[in-house]
Parts: sequence; structure tokens; C-alpha cells
Amino acid sequence: MDRRNITPQGQTAHVFVEFLEVAVSCIVFLKGFYPAGAFERRRYMNVVVHKAKHPQLGNYIHSATFGLFPFIQKGLIERVAVIFYDKDRVPVERFVFKLAVNQSRASPVEEKSLEFTLRAFLVKLEVANPLMKSLPPGGSWEITAYFRALPEENDATDARMWVPTDTKQWLQPPRITPIKSMSSEPLKVQLYLEHPSSTEPKEQEG
Ligand SMILES: *[C@@H]1O[C@H](CO)[C@@H](O)[C@H](O)[C@H]1NC(C)=O
Repeated sequence: MDRRNITPQGQTAHVFVEFLEVAVSCIVFLKGFYPAGAFERRRYMNVVVHKAKHPQLGNYIHSATFGLFPFIQKGLIERVAVIFYDKDRVPVERFVFKLAVNQSRASPVEEKSLEFTLRAFLVKLEVANPLMKSLPPGGSWEITAYFRALPEENDATDARMWVPTDTKQWLQPPRITPIKSMSSEPLKVQLYLEHPSSTEPKEQEG
């Protein structure tokens, strides 16, 4: 990619999806969803991270995060969530990245400094491990993106891989635990955990 021809929003989106790929891998690793052998230790901006070694897992995380690039660049994505479900497809825990990319900024982005700022999220994720819930057996997980607006016709090809989800929602507003937030023009990111409220009706076992 010729960096001279891309906009600050394109630069930002590029740094962010690279970060997101690493962050999603780390979350899935921390949750212990797969055996530790499914991951290998890597360095990302001098932080030890865990990257999927299994090609299918690595490809899913890569294509889901990098597939968001055009939409993040245009400011169309409001949230990206890594959602863990129980065996009945009820969400147990959601890791939510809420983001905003300022579309007015015209001056180039200091990519190294943006990467450095995002790196702090990875460190915080490790520290937040005790706040996370243990997963019930037989569950699943997925990456979900929430669009601020529907993509235009030109983007429809890229958007095709994003299918509406049919998963169950919580009835009560979730409990929210903030993990980290940052603002580094033109990018704002908040990461928080969502858990079902204690008044959330429990499904009958059956
Ligand atoms: C977006 O960027 C412009 C130009 O740099 C700035 O004036 C404006 O305050 C920013 N908007 C927000 C919501 O941060």
C-alpha cells in the first residue's frame, strides 16, 4: 500500500485493524476457549501476545478484522464485539470495542504513536483477566460488527460477508466494566466488558 496516497482515516483504520486482529486473538486465548497449543507467542510492539497457530482460526480472525477496514475508514462502524455464547446461543460475555474515526481530520497520522497508544489495551486486557467470566461448556464465540449506518451500494460487495445475526439478546441492560479508553485524533476507542445483569431472566435448563 502506498502510504502517501491514503487519507488519515485510511492510515488510522489500517493501524486499528492490525491492532484488532491481535486483540481478538488475545481475548480468545485469555478465555481459554481453545487449548493453549492452538496459539503461539509473538511480539507485537514489544508486548508478548498470543497468535492463533491453527490456520482456520487465524484466517477467521484475520478476515473478520481486516474485512472491516473499508467501513472503519469511512466511520461506519460503531462497535466491534467479541461475543461468547453458552450452548443455547445466549451471550455470556461480550468484549466491546467502541470506536469513532473523525472524518474531518486532514493532517497525516503519526502511526507509530497511534500503535503505541493501542498497545496499552493489550496490557490492560491481561490485567482484566480476573474480571472475566469462566465459560460454560459447549459454548461458541464470534466477532460481530455494529454499523452506524448501512454501507452504500459501492461497499455492498465487502458488506456481503457481514450477515445479520440471529443470536439471542439480553432483555435487561448489561452490566458494564470499562477496561480502557483512549483518544488520539482522529481515533477514539473504548474497550469494555458486558455481562448479563443480575436481574436477567435465566433460561430454564432443558
Ligand atoms: C474532528 O477533527 C477536526 C479537525 O481536526 C476537529 O476540529 C474536530 O474538533 C474533531 N471532532 C471531534 C468530534 O473530535
